Amino acid sequence: MKYKDKYIIANWKSNVQTITEAEEIINKGLELGDKVAHYTVSAPFIYPLSAKYSPVIGSQSVSQYEGGSHTGLYTAQQTKNAGATFTLLGHSEERARGMSDADINLSIENALKQDLYVCLCIGERVRETSEIEIKKQIDESLNGLEEELNTNKIMLAYEPVWAIGSGALRPATDSEIIETVNFIKNYIKTQFNLNEETKIICLYGGSVDSTNIENILNLETVDGILIGRASSDLSEWSKVVDTLK
Ligand code: PGA
Repeated sequence: MKYKDKYIIANWKSNVQTITEAEEIINKGLELGDKVAHYTVSAPFIYPLSAKYSPVIGSQSVSQYEGGSHTGLYTAQQTKNAGATFTLLGHSEERARGMSDADINLSIENALKQDLYVCLCIGERVRETSEIEIKKQIDESLNGLEEELNTNKIMLAYEPVWAIGSGALRPATDSEIIETVNFIKNYIKTQFNLNEETKIICLYGGSVDSTNIENILNLETVDGILIGRASSDLSEWSKVVDTLK
């Protein structure tokens, strides 16, 4: 694989409706060799897919609660026990449904207690207020988690809301991606007293597909890609994988 030092996380969202389809997509991804793609799958699929592909299976969220009367939510402990190795948190589609940075902060703690790796999504709704929005998300969602950042178990994904999903205005430009990923890394370094060996890893996500993935992976500061729609369609995903081989 050409980009073996970069991370690839496929976020299936509420797509991929059968286990057969899920396995076809994961098997295609395995053609990338041992530095494979990881997948955030819907909750009902975590257990059956982990039985076969545990190291690459993650969830799309975990609850801010550790248990109790919260119908529809699933805990970090359940996620871990079902076989997932990591979780996405703070995705803008979840934020839009009401998940706050304070909730995300609790969810990160719960995930790390269960030894799950975390990919924390941050990104502005409006390009012009990018730095203000991102600072607030970092301050609140990572509040008090300095020690946890030092474990290198939290990575970030910069996902500008205006570039994500079917309503995307356009993909971000190279210079917007470089500028904002560098801003995120530097801001975290100035806000937290991090050990020298702590590395801030930041992926990019938003309208990435087989036509632009290489270009974005070639940006030095970008540590990988969080890829949504293009990862849940076998034909487009196959093109992505073939591009990366
Ligand atoms: P997209 O989504 O690639 O479909 O724009 C990215 C994401 O939501 O993580």
